[in-house]
Amino acid sequence: MKMHSSMKKFYALIFLAFILHSDLLVAQKDIPHLNKVGDRFELIVKGEPFLMLGGELGNSTASTLESMEPVWSRLKQLNINTILTPVYWELLEPEEGKFDYRLVDELILKARAYDFKLVFLWFGSWKNSMSSHAPGWVKLDQERFPRSKSESGISQEILSAFSDNNLNADLEAYKHLLRHLGEFDKENQTVILMQPENEIGMLPSARDYSDAANKKFSENVPADLINYLQNNKEKLNPETIEIWGANGYKTSGNWEDVFGKGLHTDEIFMAYYFALYTDKICAAGKAEYNLPAYVNAALNAPGRKPGEYPSAGPLPHVLDIWKAASPNIDFYSPDFYNPDFKLWNDLYTRQGNPLFIPEHKFDNSVAAKALFAFGHYEALGFSPFSIEQMPGNPFSPKEEKLSQVYNIIYQIKPLLDKSRGQNKVEGVLLDKDVNEVTFTLGDYEFKAAHTFNLGWEPNSKSEEWEPAGAIVIQTGKNEFYYAGFGVTLTMKNLKKPNERVGILKTDRGNFIDGNWVVYQHLNGDQTHQGRHIRSFVDDVCIQRFTLYEYK
Ligand code: DGJ
Repeated sequence: MKMHSSMKKFYALIFLAFILHSDLLVAQKDIPHLNKVGDRFELIVKGEPFLMLGGELGNSTASTLESMEPVWSRLKQLNINTILTPVYWELLEPEEGKFDYRLVDELILKARAYDFKLVFLWFGSWKNSMSSHAPGWVKLDQERFPRSKSESGISQEILSAFSDNNLNADLEAYKHLLRHLGEFDKENQTVILMQPENEIGMLPSARDYSDAANKKFSENVPADLINYLQNNKEKLNPETIEIWGANGYKTSGNWEDVFGKGLHTDEIFMAYYFALYTDKICAAGKAEYNLPAYVNAALNAPGRKPGEYPSAGPLPHVLDIWKAASPNIDFYSPDFYNPDFKLWNDLYTRQGNPLFIPEHKFDNSVAAKALFAFGHYEALGFSPFSIEQMPGNPFSPKEEKLSQVYNIIYQIKPLLDKSRGQNKVEGVLLDKDVNEVTFTLGDYEFKAAHTFNLGWEPNSKSEEWEPAGAIVIQTGKNEFYYAGFGVTLTMKNLKKPNERVGILKTDRGNFIDGNWVVYQHLNGDQTHQGRHIRSFVDDVCIQRFTLYEYK
């Protein structure tokens, strides 16, 4: 049968489209991306799950290569595999439309040489609320690039989210950056994740009072926000329900009609427009090179009113609003400079938001918290802030501990990858206040206690208890791995309540090239004569243990 030539063309076109499409699919699949496993997410880099054992640089360290020079090897010693580093708008685009990629490229090349991955923090329109990283040509032309105004009409060094000029200037720069990364780095994939903007927030008023903002505030709440709230009503966070419900779940009217009058509505309004602005920037970047992206938040101190803290950032109480307006942002992250680690992480992981902690004050709790984050939340990554600014050789104790903990997490990564999203892994974080927790893995209930409870270590009588942490992974019906420090584990079999659980065998060892290599067979004093699994606070280690029951 002869095919008509127009028919031939038609099939050829379909074939071409298919090839192109599958090419795109392959290309997309090869770019770092998130993958859902069970109820958790993993970050896939070059086809493999990647855990970000991270550290974020101090704000100005990556502004020259000279200042970075001593940093690289030190971070290597810390066993970091991912560096979070700013990319500064003012340095990338010192003159409008003229982009200088030299610093970015050199950072990437150095990172490659040291085998680090990079997360780029785009210090664009906003960095800690302010617009201090905007280039001079933006700062100086306030007619064209308007500022936010406080309630009393005073201009702030905060670019207004209600100006298309502001948005487009930032968006163009971000777009160029991502286009460049697509060209320069797609093959190597040194840059694995983007953070557009940094700790967005409104100060000193809960919302912008510029003319453009006031106009928007008097207009109806955009339909896409209302639709989002209606379509997701079942899963909205209680904070949203409380406000929207208190006002009768209204579906039309201006901001005060729908959410009521007050600072909370000012913050919701602002959150929506911050999210919209950031999302447009993020989308423009992704259209060039589709790297995953997240935004981070400065956590609000309890008891402060909107405007007294950087308001309307991606904070838990306005996260529904953010989600409605930022479909291109893959997840939302907390920065920790205050306590209540578990409380905030619990708030951030609602609705399946994957946990990534881009910043944590570099204190003596980070090693334990890294274990807790990767174990309990199956986090994508963890990253103390100002990781390089700890001069001194040898390491300070907290550097030492973090380095050791990153090492053991790296070793058990294949086990973490395998057990992700299947309730086979748990993490604990213990201190003087919370010195005992219970959790279940398979048939076993574990009691995890801080080893200072035993009173056997030199510091166990001191006022301060160094935080302790561990990851426990179930690898067989009665087989488990412990990775951590300062934790004692005792077990019960929930299926056999009348029997006691004993330790069949405990080994301490390491994964070398992926194989478990025993260093010591632990028993006697090291297991309290078979009563518990344990490593002291100064003993960061991995143990493999099996359990049995006796009557
Ligand atoms: C949080 C910010 O995101 C960081 O860039 C830095 O400013 C720290 N706060 C505080 O040093």
